[in-house]
Amino acid sequence: MLLFDSGIGGLSVLREVTRALPQAPLVYAADTAGFPYGVKSEMEVATRVSAWLGRLAERLRPSLVVIACNTASVIALAHVRAVLDVGVVGTVPAIKPAAEASVSRVIGVLGTPSTVRQPYVDALSARFAADCTVLRHGSSALVALAEAHLRGEATADADYRAALEGLLMQPGGDAMDVVVLACTHFPLVAERLAAVAPRPLRFVDGAAGIARRTAHLLAGRHWPAPGGHRAIATGAVPGLERYAPALKAFGLPPFEVF
Ligand code: DGL
Repeated sequence: MLLFDSGIGGLSVLREVTRALPQAPLVYAADTAGFPYGVKSEMEVATRVSAWLGRLAERLRPSLVVIACNTASVIALAHVRAVLDVGVVGTVPAIKPAAEASVSRVIGVLGTPSTVRQPYVDALSARFAADCTVLRHGSSALVALAEAHLRGEATADADYRAALEGLLMQPGGDAMDVVVLACTHFPLVAERLAAVAPRPLRFVDGAAGIARRTAHLLAGRHWPAPGGHRAIATGAVPGLERYAPALKAFGLPPFEVF
């Protein structure tokens, strides 16, 4: 199975997929040469994601492709599905479970700037959270923080607080009780966000749902033993080796450049 993200965010999805399918061999691919996606135009993201997934799928022949990135999924999922001849699972903002969990009926969507402006998010809000106020904030700083955190660098509480305040300071933000982590990087720093929140907030993301879907689609397949995973980077960006300890913690070898 191939899991794809712009960087290391997809590891939050990989963690749940590994729990659901511990024997399945995984290739984790990060588009390090194209990172970050959240500040790119829709056209740039759609072109990169389709091109890279086409190349990777042709070379690796995965049993399933998981786009472990909200930005890539909300922009390019339909297109990728149309061009690949393998099943594709996407990651979309977990607005449905957030609306189900909210008592105050005010929920926040924290994603990349690109994700939070997509019509896909309007459609999910209208369908699943019509009786909620849905606040949105796009933070590319939080994506960079998650990357730094996984490289083992020190990151400041104030920067996590600033990302949350992007929601809390909006009109209605004082009543918000559930926050959708609508970027796969963000669950990797959920504890840091929770620690700086001015009151208990519930954070939800889509990783467990993706793992259930993946397990369903691959039901009946058997793999001899766990292991045989790979981690692929699309570009030899400086500092790539500093991700090795984090990759190891997720059961992956260091990045190899594709
Ligand atoms: N992890 C990605 C997401 O879920 C995007 C991060 C980025 O490249 O900006 O949206």
